[in-house]
Amino acid sequence: MNTQLRRHLRDHATRAYLGTGLFNYRWARGKLGGDAIFPALLEANVFRDGARVLDLGCGRGLLAAWFLAAEQMAARGVWPAHLRQPPRDLRFRGFELMAREAEVGNRALQPHFPGRVELCGGDMCEAPVAGADAVAILDVLHYVDFPAQEKLLDRIRDALPPGGVLITRVGDAAAGWRFRFSQFVDRCMAGAQGHAAPPTWCRPLAAWVAALESRGFAVTTASMSQGTPFANVMLVGRLPG
Ligand SMILES: C[S@@+](CC[C@H](N)C(=O)[O-])C[C@H]1O[C@@H](n2cnc3c(N)ncnc32)[C@H](O)[C@@H]1O
Repeated sequence: MNTQLRRHLRDHATRAYLGTGLFNYRWARGKLGGDAIFPALLEANVFRDGARVLDLGCGRGLLAAWFLAAEQMAARGVWPAHLRQPPRDLRFRGFELMAREAEVGNRALQPHFPGRVELCGGDMCEAPVAGADAVAILDVLHYVDFPAQEKLLDRIRDALPPGGVLITRVGDAAAGWRFRFSQFVDRCMAGAQGHAAPPTWCRPLAAWVAALESRGFAVTTASMSQGTPFANVMLVGRLPG
């Protein structure tokens, strides 16, 4: 995705957050304008048309904002013809521990995309996972302890249909100082939003991959750290279709 398209999509996706306050708007612009995972998810073609996406730890619903805005741009004919068109008719359900943030996402997105976004306050470990074709857990799994991670991954694997997809981003605990730096920035980001820095349970990348593969997912990985000092990796796990 070239810089011009990314800016256009960021502007389109974040306009709706203006009405929820300047901090939310700026937060959304910073994330959607700068975080490598959003263009990577579009380019990796992770969601099929009509997919029901469950976003665990959804924050303010930026994943939904990004994809729904891309779909809208394509429908208006302002998506470059030589690029793969964004998926259509996605529906997003989200769970977010900070109910306030889920509510910001609902207020921003629901008026623009009626019936397409429903974000709830709640612990992802208790969230109903049935009825999704794709589950996203972006920068969240490490906030729950290892037994809770295992149980959640089991529940997701059991609930996804054949061909279902699990997308996650994790830090690679084997990456030395780059991992420690990522953790430091993670804490600063929590602080910037007024949260206390929570404890974390991290694994080396090989162990994250093994956790998915042992459940039957075929896994691809992509570094999300190009040009940065971070140690973040996107994992896309697909069940046999
Ligand atoms: C680094 S943010 C990522 C937000 C979002 N996934 C994104 O990529 O923009 C991590 C989010 O996970 C949420 N979170 C942490 N533990 C959680 C849990 N057990 N259940 C639901 N959300 C949780 C935090 O409140 C925070 O909003």
